[in-house]
Amino acid sequence: MTMTSSVLKTSEPAVPVPRHVAVIMDGNGRWASLRGRPRSFGHRAGLRSARRLVRASRRYRIEALTVFAFSQENWQRPDTEVRLLMQLFLHTLSKELKALRENDIRLRFIGEHSSFPADLRQLMRTAEAKTVRNGALHLTVAVGYSGRWDILQAAEACQRQGLVLNAENLEAHLQTAGLPSVDLLIRTGGERRISNFLLWPLAYTELYFTETLWPDFAEHDFVQALGWFAGRERRFGLVPEAA
Ligand code: IPE
Ligand code: IPE
Ligand code: MG
Repeated sequence: MTMTSSVLKTSEPAVPVPRHVAVIMDGNGRWASLRGRPRSFGHRAGLRSARRLVRASRRYRIEALTVFAFSQENWQRPDTEVRLLMQLFLHTLSKELKALRENDIRLRFIGEHSSFPADLRQLMRTAEAKTVRNGALHLTVAVGYSGRWDILQAAEACQRQGLVLNAENLEAHLQTAGLPSVDLLIRTGGERRISNFLLWPLAYTELYFTETLWPDFAEHDFVQALGWFAGRERRFGLVPEAA
């Protein structure tokens, strides 16, 4: 598997771009608090930021983008915030579906969705079906997701099918099956943790942390992260000469 899929042309010399970028979009609440506004204000701004990231990823020919929108632990937030987030997901999805189709973006959701509102689940399935033939960018949205849960559900699937529990079989049953391994993880909002996002697929990922709060994360911040990634030496456990 090659590390790069294309070349990013900025005002700087062209740099290679990662095939698969994952993003923990954190800091919406703090962004709103700094402005004396409710957390919902931050989540709305966060969605606009997510839209910018998808467009930039498409333009820079990133092959796969996986974003963390709602964790299983986030269910424990106050009801009003959870309900607001569900409404925003529903609204955004219905609004953006046409643009995703037109821009050759394939949309998939990963996570445990049984507790999601029925209308949202239905729309998620419809959006996946309507973009299934697209391929310029594989956009995966992790909602109701937990990295530990993903590994467990994959192991259970192997067991049910009577498969030997080895790395290949487990990987084939993870929710991220079929996607290239994650080259670059970006987390905004200043925390340096994984918060139960992708665990298995992050084994050899380059980790980029920025203080920038998610709603402020602009295209130039993304370009900065890509530039940082281009300067990393990836060894995958080998010695430099042999890598
Ligand atoms: C990330 O922003 C979005 C979700 C988890 C849904 P937060 O809501 O965690 O914002 P902060 O971290 O409290 O600022
Ligand atoms: C991680 O952010 C989850 C998402 C961005 C969806 P959190 O705000 O939930 O993570 P912690 O609580 O800081 O670890
Ligand atoms: Mg947070």
